[in-house]
Amino acid sequence: MSNPFKLDLTQRPRRLRRTAGLRALVTETVLQPANLIAPLFVVDGRPAPEEIKSMPGVFRLNVADLVKECRALCKLGVPMVALFPKLDPKLKDDEGTLALAEDALVLRAVRAVKKAVPELAVMTDVALDPYTTHGHDGVLNAARDDVDNDRTVGILARMAVLQARAGVDFVAPSDMMDGRVGAIRKSLDAAGYTGTGIIAYAAKYNSAYYGPFRDAVGSAQAAGTRLLSKATYQMNPANRREAVIEAQLDSLEGADVLMVKPAGPYLDIIREVRNATRKPVAAYQVSGEYAQLQAAARLGWLDLARTRHESLLAIKRAGADMILTYFAKDLAKELR
Ligand code: PBG
Repeated sequence: MSNPFKLDLTQRPRRLRRTAGLRALVTETVLQPANLIAPLFVVDGRPAPEEIKSMPGVFRLNVADLVKECRALCKLGVPMVALFPKLDPKLKDDEGTLALAEDALVLRAVRAVKKAVPELAVMTDVALDPYTTHGHDGVLNAARDDVDNDRTVGILARMAVLQARAGVDFVAPSDMMDGRVGAIRKSLDAAGYTGTGIIAYAAKYNSAYYGPFRDAVGSAQAAGTRLLSKATYQMNPANRREAVIEAQLDSLEGADVLMVKPAGPYLDIIREVRNATRKPVAAYQVSGEYAQLQAAARLGWLDLARTRHESLLAIKRAGADMILTYFAKDLAKELR
């Protein structure tokens, strides 16, 4: 029986979806290993790789294993890694003193990676949370009820110079203090590190999606710090216009790349920042975004390979040039 129903259509968008070849021809967004930055966690001593409970498939690595992992990533075409140290809680104090140690773990890790795999770019976080007992990104004020902005910035600027001296390609202030990008740029230049770049966590939100990361670096050590509120410095998740202000300030202060974080739940912010600047935009698919997909996949509720790809494609489509993601290695392998 023939179906008598016929539309008189001039426009039939489905023509362009008819075959795989046609769909490829009209693809607007393509993910490449070159778009990815792999965050890696490093520990001291010689422990075997230790899986982070809330981040299946992500391990804390000693420096030797870290170097191996970096070699593998570089071979897969991933151009940059972001290093995060996890300190022994005994080494932490209120002031985050060890952030300024000349032989700090993260500095030793940077030197080892740059020596073994010089073509791989390295970025490091500039913030005090791995070093402070209270888990905040800065030092506290006299009343101990907030982070002291200006005193913190002074420390961060010194920290950035140490990281530059160790050989990082980019320092990445993730603390959200006012004026830190400008202060860091000045200090780097004064110390002769004019070639060291700044990837600013420009619009970083006060997000509950950082929970697994705080397990990973142990900034959740003190009772309740997993739920630590960073609301006086990280951005209110309700705000969008403010993200543009933050991005413009960081850009004017000398940031080379502007980052939005988290990524998936903040695609509108990525697009907003993309439209507001000509500089490269980075987005950080954070630990909680990774944990969500892993957990659902483990329950058999989502297909991991497909949701992984789709989640990252969406972030790139929203306007991110580069994406920090714990899926970097898996995706690079898939794209090979
Ligand atoms: C801390 C920092 C955080 C992340 C990167 N740097 C957590 C926080 O602000 O508490 C989160 C990354 C992630 O969740 O994957 N300066």
